[in-house]
This record gives sequence, structure tokens and C-alpha cells, in this order.
Amino acid sequence: MPGSPDRSLIESGAAIIAESFREYTKGFRDLTRHARAHFESANWHGVQHDAELRFDLYADAVAAGLARLIPLLQPLAEDRPTWTALREAYAAAVAQRGDVELAESFFNSFTRKIFHTIGVDSAVEFVSSRAGVTLDAERTVTVSFPRTGSLRRMIGEILEAYRFAPGWEDADGDAARVAIAMEDRLVAREVSGIALARPVFFRGKAAYLVGHVLSRSGDVPFVLALTNPAGKIVVDAVLLNEDEVSIVFSFARSYFFVEMEWPHETVAFLKTIMPRKPIAELYNAVGCNKHGKTELYRSILRHLETSDDRFEIAPGQRGMVMTVFTLPGLDVVFKVIKDKFDYPKTVTHQEVRDKYRLVFRHDRAGRLVDAQEFEHLEFDAARFSDALKRELTAVAGETVRFHGDTVVIGHLYTERRLRPLDVYLRENKSTAAHEAIVEYGQVLRDLAATNIFPGDMLLKNFGVTRHGRLIFYDYDELCLLTDCNFRTLPTPKTDLEEVSAEPWFYVGERDIFPEEFRSFLGLRRELLQTFLAYHGELLQVDFWHRMQNLHHRGEVVDIYPYKQSRRLREHDEELRR
Ligand SMILES: Nc1ncnc2c1ncn2[C@@H]1O[C@H](COP(=O)(O)OP(=O)(O)OP(=O)(O)O)[C@@H](O)[C@H]1O
Ligand SMILES: [Mg+2]
Repeated sequence: MPGSPDRSLIESGAAIIAESFREYTKGFRDLTRHARAHFESANWHGVQHDAELRFDLYADAVAAGLARLIPLLQPLAEDRPTWTALREAYAAAVAQRGDVELAESFFNSFTRKIFHTIGVDSAVEFVSSRAGVTLDAERTVTVSFPRTGSLRRMIGEILEAYRFAPGWEDADGDAARVAIAMEDRLVAREVSGIALARPVFFRGKAAYLVGHVLSRSGDVPFVLALTNPAGKIVVDAVLLNEDEVSIVFSFARSYFFVEMEWPHETVAFLKTIMPRKPIAELYNAVGCNKHGKTELYRSILRHLETSDDRFEIAPGQRGMVMTVFTLPGLDVVFKVIKDKFDYPKTVTHQEVRDKYRLVFRHDRAGRLVDAQEFEHLEFDAARFSDALKRELTAVAGETVRFHGDTVVIGHLYTERRLRPLDVYLRENKSTAAHEAIVEYGQVLRDLAATNIFPGDMLLKNFGVTRHGRLIFYDYDELCLLTDCNFRTLPTPKTDLEEVSAEPWFYVGERDIFPEEFRSFLGLRRELLQTFLAYHGELLQVDFWHRMQNLHHRGEVVDIYPYKQSRRLREHDEELRR
């Protein structure tokens, strides 16, 4: 009976999807509560474990919902009018929720699984949100601390309000130190209060209070970074500008755990603090990455509707494994796995996907770009430059198909667009180039500290952000540091061995010879000197063995998302915790 689906069937079907969504949000909230408990008890392995669990919640909830729904709907499971009716009934069922926009994305995940939708399907999906979500931060998500006396007293009130089970190690001292930092960096007499997001943002071994300093000369972003180094809570750093706060919320960091009844209001409040950050990235940052993906997709469509931009080949060297394109007016690259890989790449398609998945679930340490995976995208072929059309047809014809006016892309990853380091070094000759090389070594160190070896360390595989930070984006050879075998080059015993172009000793698949980095990187002389001056130890196996031992011992290292100089107490030079 197409066209007139049975009412009670529709109601029950919609109830199953709504129930699955409730299950998902319950799991999400439970893990968020654990994040607080883990922080309070310094249970860092618990933090890592829960981050893993959270990645699976969404797909598991959708799969469980489908497993109940399909037997109920038989044989209407693939009947489009049934799904249109389900959408209406579901919209009514979730209308009163504070997270309607997430609920809509969740519904779309069902229809996309059923229909393998190409492009968007306006008959069965929520194409644009009906949530009536406004991006005006409402007072419910913030708490205000008006200033009634000294800055120190105001900060003391904040620490009093945000109490943690083990207590503050030295609340008075911390309040005094934060106040002094504020006096140094703001016009203290103009400060009239602080507005903070009500929930605490937990990630890794830290927690963050996030908001604005209210000031007569304009609001100033404000973050207190909290740590638990020895059983009591400590204010480790105060950040007071948009760039610094934005780095804490970087797309190269893992997602926070945040309690939210109204995610759109939390996101709206964050947007007032970091107006340059796309809404999609803010949703990702608070752990709603499925909805973040919806927002990103919508922003791509909006950009295409409101500009004449065409997709073009991305600047920089062509990939051997990926073909990469971009829209000049949007800070996003699109990466398609090529049909065949150039010599000497031996990875398979599945291995490439597995590597992207590994990164997605691993601590990204501020150094690994976030990649969102899309399937079955559809665009107007006229929006692709001729050169790009030729390129895609030639190297990725199995994934990208041009049919008349449209192009369908079976699978791709999106990432934030960065300036490839090789291009950047050609454009910037002096100080900036040397700074980038110092950063380059720091990326290797940060990744090593979080048990990642990037594999293909060539300059072209790193990008520079607008903050001048370096981030790695080429994942097909990336692996866990503990899976690598770091070796010194053996000394040749004969003249023949000495002059041999090919290695005369056995090289295993996972063997890495750090001494070779020097020539491998191909740095010009003065940049190589800078690299050696700051990071010479990276050419020695000892460094890598030390890092491996740290992971074998089960130590969890967290990379600070701020400069040493922003820390409030005296510390040794170690930049990690
Ligand atoms: N996030 C990004 N921002 C800007 N450009 C990028 C980004 N990701 C990739 N590119 C560009 O696309 C090229 C190929 O991408 P990538 O390195 O990921 O692919 P690959 O095929 O694995 O590379 P390789 O040939 O080094 O193995 C890069 O050299 C760079 O110029
Ligand atoms: Mg590359």
C-alpha cells in the first residue's frame, strides 16, 4: 500500500529511532560524567578508554536501531513514502528536545544506511535543520561572575563555584596568580566580570573553564587550564586572547567531553569567543562530530550556492596515494584515494582507510589534522575545473564518476586546508622558515610522545596553520611508535659494501634509521643547521628508544595546547605532562 503507510506502524518506527537516539545521548552523557571522575582521580587510562568507547556509541546506536526497525517495517523498509512519513512522526517525537539538530542528523544516518543515498534526498532526509536553532547564546549555558572587588576575589569566587571532588591544591595562590596574569595583560580597572560556559571541558589530562572577561573596552576570551598533577586540582595556565583559545579548540586536537543539554547554545557561546571557527569544527570539538559533519556539508553547499567558486586541484605536490582538490574560497580540502598508487607505495585501499581511522581515534596531540569521511557525494560537474576533471578521471575514475551534468564521489575525506610546508618554505625565506623548521621537529616530538610515528616525514606532508603551527596530514605510512624498529646504520665491512647504492644489510618493513633523516629531509643548508641545533637528538636512535620505553611503561603523555610562558607556576622546562 505505497502512499498510505499504516499510522501505528509509522508511530512505532519513529519511536524506535527516537529511542535509539535517547540511548545514544544517554551513553554520551554517562561517558561525560566519567570524564569528570577520571580527571578527579587522575585515571588517565580511563580517559583513553572512554574516548575509544565514545567513538563507537553513534554507529552502535544506529546499528541497534536498524536491527529493530527493519523487521518491523518489512517489506516497507525501503519504501520512500514510508520514510517520509517516519521523518514527520520522528520530527514530532523529538521536537521538544534541546538537541533537535543532533536528533535530525541521527535520523539521516538511518536513511543513508537504508538508501545508500547519493547526494541528499530531500524526500526522506532532514536537508536543512527544522530546529529553529539560533546562534544567540542564551543565559542557560553561561554563568556570570560580576566583579565586586579585586580580580583576585572574582577568580576566587570562580574556583569556589567550580569545585572538584579532590579540592584545589592552593585556591588562594591560584586566584592570586591568575589575577596577576590578568593585570599584566589587560586593563584591570576596566574588567567588570567574567562569563563562563557552565560545563567544564574535559580532554586528556586536563580540564578547561571557558568564557569571556567582560570589559568596558570589549570582551576578551578567557580560559583557565586545570590539571591534576598530584591528587589535587591546580590552575596551570590562563589564556586571554582569541588565538590562544582557538589553539586549545584546534581541529588537530581530540574532542572534548562536555555536559550539554543544549549543544547548539554551547556552540553558539563558543562562537562568540572564537568567531573565526566554523560551526562544524565547534560541534566536532565538543564531541558531536556526526552533527559537525552535517554542518560542514551544509556549509559546502551554501558556499557553492553563494559563490561562483569551482573545485580545483589543491596547491602543492600531487599525492602518490591521494588526489586532493579544494574550493579556493573555502578552507577545506577534499581527498580521494587514487585507483592505483605510484611507485614505491605498496599500501592497499583498505590499509589507507585503516590509517585514517587509527588517527581519528587516537590522541591527535595538536599535530594531526582531523579528517571527516564522506560517501556518495554529488555535485554539479560544471563546478569542477577542466584540469581537475581530467585529473580525477585519470587517477580516481573508480571513485569519482562524471555522468552528464553531475559528478558522484563514492568516498572522500575532508580536512582543513593548510599551506603545505614545502610551498610555505619557498614563499618564506627568513625567520618564518627557521621557525617552521623548529616547529617541524616539535611535531615529531609531540607525535612521538603520543606514540605516533608519521612515516612519510617529507616536508610536503606537513601544513602550516594561520597561527604558524605545523600539522601533519599524510597518514598512509603512519604507525604506532611502538610498532617501529629504530636502528643504527651498520658500519660497512668491505669497500664493496661502502660504495653500494642499495642497502647491503637486511632492512625490515618497519625498520627506521634516524641517521638518514638528515639527507632524507632535503633541507637547504641553513635550515638543516637550525634543525640540528634544536632537534639533533631526533637523528639518534636513543631518543626514539626512550620514547618507546615510555609507552611500554604505559605512561600517558598529554601535550599542552599552550605555551610554557602561559603557565602560572614555576616549572622545569618539560613541556608535557
Ligand atoms: N589538509 C591539507 N591542506 C592543504 N593541502 C593538502 C592537505 N592535505 C593534502 N594536501 C596537498 O595534497 C598533497 C597530497 O596529499 P597527501 O600528502 O595527503 O597524499 P599522499 O598521496 O599520501 O602523499 P604522498 O605522495 O606524499 O604519499 C599534499 O602534498 C599537499 O600538497
Ligand atoms: Mg603526501
